[in-house]
Amino acid sequence: MPKAIEWLDDKLRILDQSKLPWEQALANLANYQDVALAIKEMRIRGAPAIGVAAAYGIALGAQDIKTTDADNFRKQLNQVMQTLATTRPTAVNLFQAINRMRKIAAIGGNIPEIKEALIAKAKQIHQEEIEATKRLSQLGAELIQDGFAILTHCNAGSLATAGYGTALGVIKAAKEQGKQLNIIVTETRPLLQGARLTTWELKQEGIPVTLITDSMAGYFMHQKKIDCVIVGADRIAANGDVANKIGTYTLAVLAKENDIPFYVAAPTSTIDLSLSSGAEIPIEERDPDEVTHIQGIRIAPGEIDVANPAFDVTPHNYIAAIITERGIIREPYIERLREIAT
Ligand code: MRU
Repeated sequence: MPKAIEWLDDKLRILDQSKLPWEQALANLANYQDVALAIKEMRIRGAPAIGVAAAYGIALGAQDIKTTDADNFRKQLNQVMQTLATTRPTAVNLFQAINRMRKIAAIGGNIPEIKEALIAKAKQIHQEEIEATKRLSQLGAELIQDGFAILTHCNAGSLATAGYGTALGVIKAAKEQGKQLNIIVTETRPLLQGARLTTWELKQEGIPVTLITDSMAGYFMHQKKIDCVIVGADRIAANGDVANKIGTYTLAVLAKENDIPFYVAAPTSTIDLSLSSGAEIPIEERDPDEVTHIQGIRIAPGEIDVANPAFDVTPHNYIAAIITERGIIREPYIERLREIAT
């Protein structure tokens, strides 16, 4: 499978996720503005992958700064970081990655040294995500029994993490342990990450997949055709409330009603202890055209009001466990999250 993000000869190459599954198009991002646009337009997407892309974007931006004056260099680098920070507001991995890069720039040294150190840090952030997603997947696979039917939403796989995957990583690891699985994937309107990306990824892995529309989830749960739900996360507040792709909350409520365990899989880079609850998580509002159009074809009359929140918040009491690379944690989340994320 082509890599979601690759740093090649001091350039960034991504697999353009907006073109999947029709085309496996690789795109070279030559500068930080290209990276910011690719994140905004969701050609690279998914919380951990956004963080990794932003880190490389900062490294790219630094290479293009020509000044020899250290103060001026930092000022221009700050502008690069600002641009990347305004791409998407919900995934905290973006801001964590930017902060880590900012610390490198603040350490000092001459400009060529800082430029080198920024590339090294971006590579390190990428490598850490690969290792964290692999580890959490292995831990999470213990929750999966042979023969399970697992429902997942959006895409929380290699594409979304630039690593092994979170929700899909757990599924892949359970499959590697020899467990037979059936994966039910919700299409995930408006941008169809489930239908376009998760089915594509699972097909590449040889894992059986059944695609359903978002509105079919309750039917399958009520029919006892789902053994557990696993999703990823864009931000986890200190009390365990989780922001994830719009529709996640609906699935969590349905799962509780039907006595089905609802799991969240995420690296610790997705935890934001600075927010006491999910109510404080900024929710991205995207272009109304994503709702009124599918792949450029209008499906609603013009001149109507449209809402397009890209994420929702699932309160922690709906979540049976949060799977991280530092362990599987359960209530009381407020204590467990503090233990693993500080
Ligand atoms: O808008 P997207 O496609 O970037 O949203 C992605 C999700 O909501 C994922 O579930 C989340 O980022 C976890 S990715 C491992």
